[in-house]
Amino acid sequence: MRDATSWTQGLTVEAPAKVNLTLRVLGVRDDGYHDLESVVALVALFDSLVFEPADGLGLVCRGMEVPGGEDNLVLAAARVLADECRPGQGAQIRLEKRIPPGRGFGGGSSDAAAALVGLNTLWGCGLGREELARLGARVGSDVPLFLASPIAVMRGRGERVEPVAADSSWWLVLAWPDYEMPTAGVYAAYDRLGASTDGVAAAAVLDHLAGPAHEARPFLVNDLEPAADSMRCGRFDVRGCLERAGAAAVGMTGSGSAYFAVADTQAEANRVADAARAAGAETCVATLLADGKDQQERPS
Ligand code: C5P
Repeated sequence: MRDATSWTQGLTVEAPAKVNLTLRVLGVRDDGYHDLESVVALVALFDSLVFEPADGLGLVCRGMEVPGGEDNLVLAAARVLADECRPGQGAQIRLEKRIPPGRGFGGGSSDAAAALVGLNTLWGCGLGREELARLGARVGSDVPLFLASPIAVMRGRGERVEPVAADSSWWLVLAWPDYEMPTAGVYAAYDRLGASTDGVAAAAVLDHLAGPAHEARPFLVNDLEPAADSMRCGRFDVRGCLERAGAAAVGMTGSGSAYFAVADTQAEANRVADAARAAGAETCVATLLADGKDQQERPS
């Protein structure tokens, strides 16, 4: 589903990517979901959404391929908001996709959160961020974190988000392979394999955000990594690629298939990204988001 028309009009909301700096699985719940503790950082790699008044709800996408039609979380979020405060209200939504889907960067959830933010304005609903986060949790576990702060601790199924007033000058190298990881499949594999039991608390990384990247290395734990690795079946090894590229510290985001490397300087990040790209990974260098830069709305 692509659109070739002008994208210059309407209300624009930028939807950032995220990385899970850490992710611990604390247990399985009665509903099959997993109780998590995860430190999540928003990253300056953005999808863009443009909203215009229209009779029905419509979505057109360009850029990277995304699930279209009824499966797209943007439309799911629009429907949840309409049902809550503007039944039958319409909008034409244009999504420019730059965050690679199915890699653990939360692009679909971020787009859904941006849809709630944009349509809340377009339709004059007047809901606050907390109310939007409550609606977002109905759309996907990761949606509320995109309505919180640039760095946050996520707990429960993902719906309990505690903002963290942390600062970091780290540069990130985002690296991903040409295959996606199915989130539900990775959690199912986790249930079969069990947790890694090194006992590092998810929040321990917060004490290292202001320090040198290499000191964060033991703290970038993700309990889903052995499960995701078991589903790789010999395909491209992104962690190995980043480590061979000289990364100071590497972590897996979400349920994969993407990884990130932490660097102290832009030059170091570029060097690691270039080496990883030469070895076959897709890469992108990005900073962490600073406070006040998440999902900014702007009329265009
Ligand atoms: O909530 P969402 O649709 O994003 O989750 C996708 C799948 O990931 C769920 O169906 C579930 O299998 C798994 N999941 C989980 N525990 C979580 C989040 C997701 O088991 N906390």
